[in-house]
Amino acid sequence: MHTGTDIEEIAVEFEAGVLQIRINRPHKKNALHGPMYTRMADLLEEAGRTQEVRVIYITGSPDCFSSGNDVSTFGADDATSADELPAVRFLRTIAHSEVPIVAAVNGPAIGVGTTMLMHCDVVIAGEDAVFQTPFVDLGVSPEAASSFLMPLRLGYLRAAEMLLQGEAFDAQKASDCGLVNRVCDSADYQREALATAQRLAAAPPTSLRATKRVLRAPLIPGIEEAMGRENAEFARCMESPEFAEAITAFMERRPADFGNC
Ligand code: COA
Repeated sequence: MHTGTDIEEIAVEFEAGVLQIRINRPHKKNALHGPMYTRMADLLEEAGRTQEVRVIYITGSPDCFSSGNDVSTFGADDATSADELPAVRFLRTIAHSEVPIVAAVNGPAIGVGTTMLMHCDVVIAGEDAVFQTPFVDLGVSPEAASSFLMPLRLGYLRAAEMLLQGEAFDAQKASDCGLVNRVCDSADYQREALATAQRLAAAPPTSLRATKRVLRAPLIPGIEEAMGRENAEFARCMESPEFAEAITAFMERRPADFGNC
C-alpha cells in the first residue's frame, strides 16, 4: 500500500497486511492537531481502497495514548462548516471504515482519545490506561457520535458519568463496562494488540470486511444523525463565554472560573 507523505507526528508501518498507525507527539502527550487528523484520515481511506490492508492497528506512546484534541488549536481552523474540519473528517472516516481496527491504549486517553475507540473493533488496554471525556469542563459538547454510542455501549448512567461529569475511568472499570476488550500488563499491551491484529490479518479478508460491514450497518444511521446533532451543538458551545474561559484557563494553566460567564 502507498502510505503517502509522512509526518513525524504520525508514524506508519505496513507489514503482513497490518497497517500500523502510531500517534507520535509525546512532548504534547499526543494531542492531535489538524495535519495529524488529516494524515490519519488519508491513511484510513487508502486502507479501505486497497485489499492489501487486512487490519489497521492504532496506538500511541507507551505512557500516553492521546490527550485528545490539541486544546490550543480549538477554533483555529478557518473551515466554514464542520464537515471541512480535519477532526470531523477523521471521525467520519474511522466511523465508516470497513477495515477491522485494533487499538492498543495505555496512559491517558482523553477526549477524542476515548471517543475514537467507539469506532474500533478490538481495544486492548494497558493497566495504566485512563479514559476521560471532559467536554463539559472545556465548555464544549460530545463528538464522534459518542452521545449515541456511549449509552449503547456502557448504559446511559455510565455514559452520563463520562460525558456529563467528565469522570475518569481506569482500565479495570473500562473493561468492566465494555469500553475495552481486556486489560494487559502495561509492558505487554502493544504486543498483545499487535498479535491480535496479525491473527485477524491471517483470516479470510473478504469475510472480515463483510462481517464488519454487517456488524456496523445498523449503527451507521444513528452515528450519522448523532454526528450532525453533535457538530451543531459543538459549534454553538464554541461561541459561548464559558468556552473562551475554559480555553484561556487551560493555556494559563489555572482552574477555569465559570462564575461570571
Ligand atoms: N492540547 C494541547 N496541549 C496539551 C494537551 C492538549 N490536549 N495535553 C497536554 N498538552 C501539553 C501541555 O500543555 C504540556 O505542554 P508544555 O510542556 O508546553 O507546557 C505538555 O503537553 C505536557 O502536558 P502535562 O499536562 O504537563 O503532562 P501531564 O503528564 O502532567 O498530564 C494529561 C497529562 C494528558 C493528563 C494532561 O496534559 C491533560 O489533562 N491534558 C489535557 C487533556 C484535555 O483536556 N484534552 C482535550 C479533550 S477534548
